[in-house]
Amino acid sequence: MPKKHLYPEVSTFTFFKNAKRILKNPLPFHRENFEALGDTFRLNLGFSKSVVFSRDPDLAIYALRDNQKNFRKSEIQTKDLAKYVGKGLLTSEGENWKMQRKLMQPAFHKKNIYTLLNFMLEAIDKEIARIEINKTTDVFPIFNDLAFKVVAKSLFSDAINSDEIAKLQEITEENQKMLVKELRQPYKHWWFLLNGSLAKNLRLSQQARDILDSIIKRRHISGAGEKDLLDMLMGLSYEDGTKMNHEKLIDEILILFIAGHETTANSLSFTIQLLAQNQKVQQKLADEVVLLSKNESSPFDILMSSPYTGYVIQESMRLFPPVYFIDRENISVDTFKQKEMPEGTNFLFSIYEIHRNQKNWLHPNDFIPERFENLESVSSFYFPFGAGPRKCIGSNFAMYEITLALHQLLKIFRIESIKPDIEIEPLISLKPKNALVRFVKR
Ligand code: HEM
Repeated sequence: MPKKHLYPEVSTFTFFKNAKRILKNPLPFHRENFEALGDTFRLNLGFSKSVVFSRDPDLAIYALRDNQKNFRKSEIQTKDLAKYVGKGLLTSEGENWKMQRKLMQPAFHKKNIYTLLNFMLEAIDKEIARIEINKTTDVFPIFNDLAFKVVAKSLFSDAINSDEIAKLQEITEENQKMLVKELRQPYKHWWFLLNGSLAKNLRLSQQARDILDSIIKRRHISGAGEKDLLDMLMGLSYEDGTKMNHEKLIDEILILFIAGHETTANSLSFTIQLLAQNQKVQQKLADEVVLLSKNESSPFDILMSSPYTGYVIQESMRLFPPVYFIDRENISVDTFKQKEMPEGTNFLFSIYEIHRNQKNWLHPNDFIPERFENLESVSSFYFPFGAGPRKCIGSNFAMYEITLALHQLLKIFRIESIKPDIEIEPLISLKPKNALVRFVKR
């Protein structure tokens, strides 16, 4: 029998001693342990539970791609989130996931997303028009609305009822808030049951499903032809020629709202703050924007001719990856780099730490978009959209949306910094906190 090599352990005592600050922001605690114990350690949570934290990009690739068949998602997505949004791509596993991913992939191919660009632009312009100049502004609520409206407009381009969309947004955000509470305070489960907040959120989820049900039924009556994402999803066929049924379509649309709006809003908010603090980068980006706007470029031309914008977004997502952890659990016993992983080991791959590890990145905490001029050279330790077969299906959608939003913003405004730091709030996603800047007319 080969000798077992397990990951170095952080004790339950240390965990409880640090519980208060972990609840506030777990990232410094993780950093300290990585520095002390190496790129992978096991945190003993007590009651026979533990989590393995890793910032080893090779281990992440092994679990997410090379041996992904032996790794499944944790119940946070497949159970806790699924109870509010149903079993869509993000929350399902096994054959169900495989069939859906195969079915939906074509709708997210670049050429299909190109047909949505004008819808995206329309939603972006509407939100940008709300920005007030020369005023201290928290950009997160603006970009949160913007990202929700972009998904809504891309899905339902036709006369969408703004009350319905506002209600959908309210419910999505309420459910997300409730999920954060449930995950951060699992010991309060009985209280959430007793005080009715769980039941209330489940009722809200049903309301969201009812709204989507009526939107889809109206589309069936009016017939396709809008060339939006809903049309594309309704037009897809499984191998046997059948189409997605009504309930499945609702599940998938709810997932697109959940997966596609907060992540993008976070990224835009961080990017704007980084630009405010790095005027030279902002000027270089503005030069690219102004050049294109002089030529009355179409959204498609903007995407094709904005390399520097791409580097800026990639560098922003390196420093502030909206999905800052990816979770997996191995199905059967496994080994990697001589370490044994007993069956059912819970892994949290810290994308945040992988992206800032000085072994791989020169000046890891600095904002240097030029490092993405050669994406190949960094791609084995850069995973803002995950890796392997479950890699984000909306990555092109997100990149195009952020590119267009930055162009529309920089055409009109110069962004000024009003505070020296960028604050974070690590919840389910890595959220910005007090994302304050000032917009002035260019
Ligand atoms: C900056 C924005 C975004 C980031 C950083 C991001 C990141 C990610 C990551 C890391 C995953 C993989 C999670 C895992 O392996 O456990 C993922 C999955 C997913 N994302 Fe995104 N995402 C973004 C935007 C979007 C958008 C705009 C959409 C849709 C319109 C979307 C839809 C999805 C879906 C459906 C999945 C599940 C895919 C599957 O399991 O097959 N995402 N995303």
